[in-house]
Amino acid sequence: MAASHVLLARAIRRHELIEHALHDTNRELESFSYSVSHDLRAPLRSIDGFSQALVEDAGPTLDERSRSHLERIRSATQRMGRLIDDLLALSRVTRAEMKRERVDVSEIATQVAAELARHAPARAVAVTIAPGLTATGDPQLVRLALQNLIENAWKFTSRRAQASIEVGPTKDAHGEPAFFVRDNGAGYDPSVATKLFGPFQRLHPASDFPGTGIGLATVKRIVHRHGGRIWAEGKIDAGACFYFTLG
Ligand SMILES: Nc1ncnc2c1ncn2[C@@H]1O[C@H](COP(=O)(O)OP(=O)(O)OP(=O)(O)O)[C@@H](O)[C@H]1O
Ligand SMILES: [Mg+2]
Repeated sequence: MAASHVLLARAIRRHELIEHALHDTNRELESFSYSVSHDLRAPLRSIDGFSQALVEDAGPTLDERSRSHLERIRSATQRMGRLIDDLLALSRVTRAEMKRERVDVSEIATQVAAELARHAPARAVAVTIAPGLTATGDPQLVRLALQNLIENAWKFTSRRAQASIEVGPTKDAHGEPAFFVRDNGAGYDPSVATKLFGPFQRLHPASDFPGTGIGLATVKRIVHRHGGRIWAEGKIDAGACFYFTLG
């Protein structure tokens, strides 16, 4: 074998080893964050439970200030509980076995929107879902991704008198089939758009729009597990549009 071939073969082998090691480290990190999140639940439940017992037993004898401190402990533990649940859900997305089936994207999007409408009957949102959208993927993960994107569209249009949400087909820069979820809501500042998909990153204050900031990180992982890509366009006060492919 020519010397250049030997060198090339060595370089490829080294590359494979590094990739393998990286993969293992990722798995270790993933299982570490899963078990930490899991183990944090028990002490948290205890803090919440005992502070509730304290409110019930000693509440009437406490002064206003002490009662309010106890209430703050309780609401902080509940918020932390939600963060842990969200982290666990994010971790499950990476660990779950993946199926590859034909998925009816239009049907799932319609069900997700109907569920949101059922929970908020006072809101009038014009939802348009293109018929016949299909993909190959894991039905549960695709549902979770659509749920997060449509829930966001629903939430960030909550201040619009005439809210509208559209789900439809498009193409990416290479002409490959993609999907979009568009809304005419609060939009976001495009100069900080790189933060959108990071865990716990939020571009709006929780007092305006509640949330923990884990939804889009979950969607990104789902899309990447399918070998797809996700990107977004938005402007402050001029709505947002999220695009994704599923590989
Ligand atoms: N449709 C949208 N319109 C405007 N901003 C959005 C939209 N979707 C997401 N964002 C911005 O991206 C941030 C991250 O979204 P993400 O779904 O991860 O978190 P969240 O909705 O705030 O909380 P969670 O999904 O965990 O309940 C949001 O807080 C918001 O600032
Ligand atoms: Mg969200």
